This record gives sequence, structure tokens and C-alpha cells, in this order.
Amino acid sequence: MPTNKVAAALADPGWCVLPDFLSATETAALRNECLAAHANGAFHAAGVGKGVAEVRSEIRGDQVLWIDESVAGPAIQAVQEKLEDLRRAVNQSLYLGLFDVELHFAAYPPGTGYRRHLDRFQSDDRRALTVIIYLNENWTAADGGQLRFWPDEHCDPIEIAPTGGTLVTFLSDRFWHEVAPAQRQRLSLTGWFRRR
Ligand code: OGA
Ligand code: MN
Repeated sequence: MPTNKVAAALADPGWCVLPDFLSATETAALRNECLAAHANGAFHAAGVGKGVAEVRSEIRGDQVLWIDESVAGPAIQAVQEKLEDLRRAVNQSLYLGLFDVELHFAAYPPGTGYRRHLDRFQSDDRRALTVIIYLNENWTAADGGQLRFWPDEHCDPIEIAPTGGTLVTFLSDRFWHEVAPAQRQRLSLTGWFRRR
């Protein structure tokens, strides 16, 4: 799906799932950068909330590494270029005024998940659009770790497998979602396009 179709889906219904946003080769390169940084101990337990975030593993059990120039290898840079194309396409058709993107790798150890939540902080409404790119090889239903996503908070959620190369994107303030615990390590690159 080209970026203008993603932009159309974001206009209505406000979310979309795009399998093969990254090729198997691009996904493997990004996974390797993620795993190398993880092996170096660069990740830390993710917090809940903004600022001096509290670690509450009963709410979210992932470890994260925020991406900056010191982290960004060639695979990350290639994805940043793709996300820049997406940002431009979305801004042209939706006037969201997306200004930049903050990105982190996330690694969920086996048995951990992230309870139902919205992505926008109450104290800071700059996060406008969430993007999640999965980096997992040969993920099967038995591995668990689905993203449960409520297109409508009064209906049942849909379940999205964290298959390598898949992009999930949605308006950050609108959609409840949670990560079911996985049986094996679950990897992603997750980010938020922000307004000023
Ligand atoms: C998050 C999140 C979902 C996923 O990091 O805020 O909801 O599928 N991630 O990794
Ligand atoms: Mn989330």
C-alpha cells in the first residue's frame, strides 16, 4: 500500500495495518541492529507516564532503547527515510502538522505484555500518530504477543500478530490497545509523530 493509501486510511477510520511495510531483508537488518544494541545492555525497563516515568512491570514489561544519532545504524536510517515519506504524505492530506518522530526499539521478554492504554499523555498532547513496526522472524499464533486493538471501544478488539515487516499506525489519542504476553522475545520499533 503506498503512503497515500495509508494517509487515506488515517483520515477514516483513523488506523491501518500494512503487512510488508519492510521487506524481509530490511526487517532482518533492523532486527540485527536491535539485537546488537540489546546484547550491549543499551536497553532499559520502560516506564509508565511522562517525565520521571515509573517502572511498573505489571502494566508494561518491555525494555526500550530510544533512537538518537548515536544509536542510528544504516537500517534505522533507512526506516527513518520511509517514515519521513509517510509523514509528508499524511501532512499533505490530513493537515495533522506532524513535525518530528520519536522512536524506540522495544523488546518484551517472554511472559511480558502491556496492559490496555491510550498513547497520548494527559499532560502533553504532542503525540499525534503512533507507528509500530514489528521485527520478529517466523512469528506464529502459538507465540502469543498479539496487539489487541479496539477500532471502537465498545466492540471486541481485533488481534494483530507482530509479524516482521508489518506496520501498524493509528491516531494516538483515539484507540485503546494492549499487548498480550508472548511466549518468546517480542521485538519492535515503535514511534510517535508529534506536532509542535
Ligand atoms: C506501545 C504499544 C504495541 C505493540 O509501545 O505504546 O502499545 O504492539 N505497543 O508493540
Ligand atoms: Mn501503546
